[in-house]
Amino acid sequence: MSTTEVPYPGLEAFPMPRDPDALADRSRRPIVRTPTSEPRFPFPVPDGWFVVAEARNLAPGETTTMHVFGEDVVLYRTDHGEPRMVDAYCSHLGAHIGVGGRVEGGCIRCPFHGWLYDGQTGKCEEIPYGDMDRIPSQAKVRSYPCIERNQMIWAWHHGAQEQPFYEVPEVEEFADNDWLPYEIVEFDVATCAQEMAENNVDFAHFQYVHGTDAIPDDEFHLDGTYKRTVGAGGNFVREGFGLGLGVLRIAGMTTFISSTTPIDRENLKVRWIFTAPKANGPDAARQAAEGLSAGVSQDLPIWENKRYVDRPVVTKSEKKLLEQREWAKQFYSGDAG
Ligand code: FES
Ligand SMILES: [Fe+2]
Repeated sequence: MSTTEVPYPGLEAFPMPRDPDALADRSRRPIVRTPTSEPRFPFPVPDGWFVVAEARNLAPGETTTMHVFGEDVVLYRTDHGEPRMVDAYCSHLGAHIGVGGRVEGGCIRCPFHGWLYDGQTGKCEEIPYGDMDRIPSQAKVRSYPCIERNQMIWAWHHGAQEQPFYEVPEVEEFADNDWLPYEIVEFDVATCAQEMAENNVDFAHFQYVHGTDAIPDDEFHLDGTYKRTVGAGGNFVREGFGLGLGVLRIAGMTTFISSTTPIDRENLKVRWIFTAPKANGPDAARQAAEGLSAGVSQDLPIWENKRYVDRPVVTKSEKKLLEQREWAKQFYSGDAG
């Protein structure tokens, strides 16, 4: 391409174009950044709770496979209804347990030679042949703590395989009969959770990317693993629980959960899960989903083409961005290299 040619001529900014179809259709997104052999971000997959499935999509005894946290994993639901997630490759001879594996009670049996794993501990509980006196401790797959909450299945990732150090909140609107069944919007983004999280403390971008009349000056509060921003005169409250989970409430309009699940170090699967008061009509949750999806489409070309600047020059009003980066450090225990 010559330097005079304008790439993606439709992409005129200030504000960035709204293109809701770009969420599902990645071919609509301009990627002009040149991939390098270096990692794009100096962070490992963060520690935290992340949505890995909708609860309604996994029945007792069912298994599903996915790539998440940089690993191939198997998610299944026990015969008693509890979700379990383990690394996919059997510790025996490496079969993919999700391809033909069978749920038995609380365990999953590998299809290759029938070794049986407890998905809660990851330990092999039975080797059905071979006269072993005891099962070696290395006969084990990595397991991830899982819970079901707010009609979603959440898995805990920790770089040093430690136990959860914060909770997924119950969001009461999702269990309230006066609120609509949820609407979910899913899309992949080529960025990491910290970069995407920076969006809500980056107040200046609202004017330039989203076209607000002025730069908002939201209240920002950090406390342990929790954070909160309050804007629009108290009518827009965003709570964060770790790096991957936001609960957002726009007064009188919607409550939604934002989950940014790391597929690997450089890619996220975002799920936005909306509900709205039934009093606002049967389409209220869908309308909220459509409106906010159009908004995030304006951010996508920025996120997917930017680079991470480790020591940015910031204005006085952007100090919160640095505070959030300091806060985010508590969620990295894995190997960044
Ligand atoms: S590879 Fe799984 S039981 Fe042999
Ligand atoms: Fe944004």
